[in-house]
Amino acid sequence: MSLEQVLLERKKNPQGEFFVNLFEWCNLSCSFCWQDHDDWSGIDSISQRAEEIVETLKKDPRTDFDINIMGGELFADEVPDQTFLDYEMLVQYIFFHTKLLGKNVQINWVSNLVFEKDRALKLVQRLQSQGYNTPIATSYDPRGRFTPKTRETFFKNFKVFSQSKLLKNISVVLTRPNIQAILKGDSGLSEIYENYSTPLFFDFYSPEKSHEINSPSDRELLDCLHYIYNKYPKSSPIKELVGQNFNYMTCRSSYIIGPRGFTGKCKSLVSKDLIESFKTQHKLEDNSRMEQEFVSKMQCSTCRHFDRCGLSCFLQHDFGARSELDECFMRLFYDSLENV
Ligand SMILES: C[S@@+](CC[C@H](N)C(=O)[O-])C[C@H]1O[C@@H](n2cnc3c(N)ncnc32)[C@H](O)[C@@H]1O
Ligand code: SF4
Ligand code: SF4
Repeated sequence: MSLEQVLLERKKNPQGEFFVNLFEWCNLSCSFCWQDHDDWSGIDSISQRAEEIVETLKKDPRTDFDINIMGGELFADEVPDQTFLDYEMLVQYIFFHTKLLGKNVQINWVSNLVFEKDRALKLVQRLQSQGYNTPIATSYDPRGRFTPKTRETFFKNFKVFSQSKLLKNISVVLTRPNIQAILKGDSGLSEIYENYSTPLFFDFYSPEKSHEINSPSDRELLDCLHYIYNKYPKSSPIKELVGQNFNYMTCRSSYIIGPRGFTGKCKSLVSKDLIESFKTQHKLEDNSRMEQEFVSKMQCSTCRHFDRCGLSCFLQHDFGARSELDECFMRLFYDSLENV
């Protein structure tokens, strides 16, 4: 084992993770999203996804997993009623088989919360009455997501689901336009942070076809980290990263299951046209080379912040077409905290 492999082994989260896209069709068309929002493929084969999840779980020796189920938009008003029965069966199938396998899973729905019908609320409550806890994770983006009307619907539903304690978290993607809005003190974000107890989470951006507009530079990420640290100190992952405790790396090398079945790890989501823009060329079902290149280039082995660091996003770092600083921006952030 190389030094990099040893280091990475220590930082690996023992809890595995799945991202399951049942279909890509969506009622929104976020400017940073990689999906084909007109494509309903997969909506008729939800039971096959359930089998693929269980088969993948069987091959992994770990016992604990987060399974994030999403579209497109699963709960959009345009989705047929029948599909909600398929969602229910998907949950029942996964829990039944994972119990037999002796594994623990947490199933989360991921939704933009832009819908009028009450089917999502009923689904989660019905599952709850059967003994299955399946909360919703949602997302908020100051730029590139909402019209005034969809923003209003989002906040209306956010209030309902948050007050019903059915929301697991709310995430914001760190695209360049979002960072610019955050740095200007976005009012929606302040409302979410100050008036609701739903945990706020900032997520790294994965490159897609509009990366020239959306991909932030290291400098922008560093400025944003400082701002989040001061303005939203209880948000994740900042509150964990600035503490003195050991943290696993934020990347969980998640399994991706798309509308047509298992596709690999995060890089498999990237458009084929962009594959050449990555620094490491390797198999889509394996992130390990990308991870090793990162810790080697950043010289994590000699970094005094290694234990508490989340090691950033390997996919973003591996993407060549973005502006980088000479030093690791996370290290610069940690150093600056010590110099205050
Ligand atoms: C693809 S969406 C599907 C679920 C639902 N429609 C929603 O937006 O919450 C799942 C998550 O991916 C995030 N996302 C979309 N495009 C992204 C990108 N290029 N990089 C990182 N996250 C992205 C969204 O913000 C959302 O949190
Ligand atoms: S709401 Fe979700 S799936 Fe729909 S376009 Fe936005 S990020 Fe993509
Ligand atoms: S701060 Fe940078 S160099 Fe240090 S451990 Fe984290 S990613 Fe590696």
